[in-house]
Amino acid sequence: MSEPASFKFDEVGAWSELKLEIVEKYGAAYTKAFARHPSLKKYYVDSFSGAGAHISKSTKKMIDGSPVRALRINPPFDGFHFIDLNQQKTAHLKTLCGARDDVHIETGDASKYLIDQLLPTINYTKFNRALCLFDPYGLHLHWRAMELAGKSGAV
Ligand SMILES: C[S@@+](CC[C@H](N)C(=O)[O-])C[C@H]1O[C@@H](n2cnc3c(N)ncnc32)[C@H](O)[C@@H]1O
Repeated sequence: MSEPASFKFDEVGAWSELKLEIVEKYGAAYTKAFARHPSLKKYYVDSFSGAGAHISKSTKKMIDGSPVRALRINPPFDGFHFIDLNQQKTAHLKTLCGARDDVHIETGDASKYLIDQLLPTINYTKFNRALCLFDPYGLHLHWRAMELAGKSGAV
């Protein structure tokens, strides 16, 4: 895997590796639960997606990040939205996703994109549902985004 100039993968510890396993297992349980409801469209939203790859602190090896794990969940989601502020991370993630028309990768502030663009399109009455992962380093998520997701009844 080649690294763009000055791009550094995050080094992640045991808790993050555990989180990644939970995201993958929870995602698979989530999509499986939709098997009896084929009319519902299910989306995966990774609001602080990262580059799609990290370095494990313990092994020093590359490990897959949450968006890459979401892409291999089976049964699959119907669409994916990955958002990250860091342009180098989204550029790397694009190389991992390839030319898939079910993936949208947004470079920018997650709260702004969720509030202004994405969450208003995830509509309960239009049979949309979404699993949203909010995974900032710190307090980067505006409460309004959380509120909108909760009130939608679809997230
Ligand atoms: C904890 S990491 C995400 C890890 C990823 N979810 C995973 O498990 O593989 C947090 C990410 O949030 C991004 N970030 C920081 N502030 C942001 C913002 N305001 N909007 C979107 N992304 C942001 C950082 O660039 C970083 O990649």
